[in-house]
Amino acid sequence: MSYGLLKGKKGIIFGALNDMSIAWQVAEKCHEEGATFTLSNTAVALRLGTVAELAEKTGSEIIEADATNLKDVENVILKSMKILGGKVDFILHSIGMSPNVRKGLPYDALNYEYFLKTLDISALSFHKLMLLARKHDAISDWGSVVALSYVAAQRTLVGYNDMADAKSLLESIARSFGYIYGRDKKIRVNTISQSPTITTAGSGVKGIETLIDFTERMSPLGNASAADCADYCVTLFSDLTKKVTMQNLFHDGGFSSMAMSMRAIDQYAKSFDECD
Ligand SMILES: NC(=O)c1ccc[n+]([C@@H]2O[C@H](COP(=O)([O-])OP(=O)(O)OC[C@H]3O[C@@H](n4cnc5c(N)ncnc54)[C@H](O)[C@@H]3O)[C@@H](O)[C@H]2O)c1
Repeated sequence: MSYGLLKGKKGIIFGALNDMSIAWQVAEKCHEEGATFTLSNTAVALRLGTVAELAEKTGSEIIEADATNLKDVENVILKSMKILGGKVDFILHSIGMSPNVRKGLPYDALNYEYFLKTLDISALSFHKLMLLARKHDAISDWGSVVALSYVAAQRTLVGYNDMADAKSLLESIARSFGYIYGRDKKIRVNTISQSPTITTAGSGVKGIETLIDFTERMSPLGNASAADCADYCVTLFSDLTKKVTMQNLFHDGGFSSMAMSMRAIDQYAKSFDECD
């Protein structure tokens, strides 16, 4: 069901790779809600993924960019304004990658070159994007910028590795830039801390399937899906959330506020009975 919440709004969506991607679901929902936007991803993602299909479905143009490369990002911003006929109202940063996770290097044996790459791709790219958008005055007043985060920024989940540090930095950048952008242009900047979700990036996290089962059982509302996340993004891009900024917004069925559920305690106690 469409509410027309984004009628006439323009945006840029980074990070749709295939139909499992959170950004893909966001793009579909934004289209349904009346927005027009450009899509961006790396050359490799455009080759290996199915972004062209999404572009056709939503009437969008694709602009290739490595989000760590200032020239590429500037090109996305300038081209998007040209294609869409002016400033944009929203930007989604749905980008994450850790070479350490990819190579299976544990947190106590990180490769530091990879670590810097993790931080650059997954966090600094958010800063670069806003710096360049501001330089070109590319976002309309009362616009909205959203990036995706994960609860490992606050709580230790060992399999998440150096991505936890990247997410902490990402959330901090949202606050620091949110202040500047809010003060000067009434533009809001937030992160959404999403439930674990089966996507290409998500599948790289060690033990993701067990984690998803655990959080599903532990969260009073159950895990939030990529489609649920897309609904939440639409509200943050809409005019109904104009005074929400500099926040890390948990979108996880309540998981982040839980310690133990009664069912989990029962199960824990039973595991000791079995040992005796
Ligand atoms: N899947 C989960 O469990 C989960 C949970 C919380 C937050 N997130 C976050 O959601 C976001 C989207 O991930 P997803 O789960 O949809 O997976 P995904 O694999 O579909 O998306 C990740 C995207 O990052 C892009 N990317 C990687 N390096 C890039 C670079 N240098 N420049 C530009 N783009 C680059 C990839 O091409 C891909 O499109 C990420 O920030 C991820 O950390 C995911």
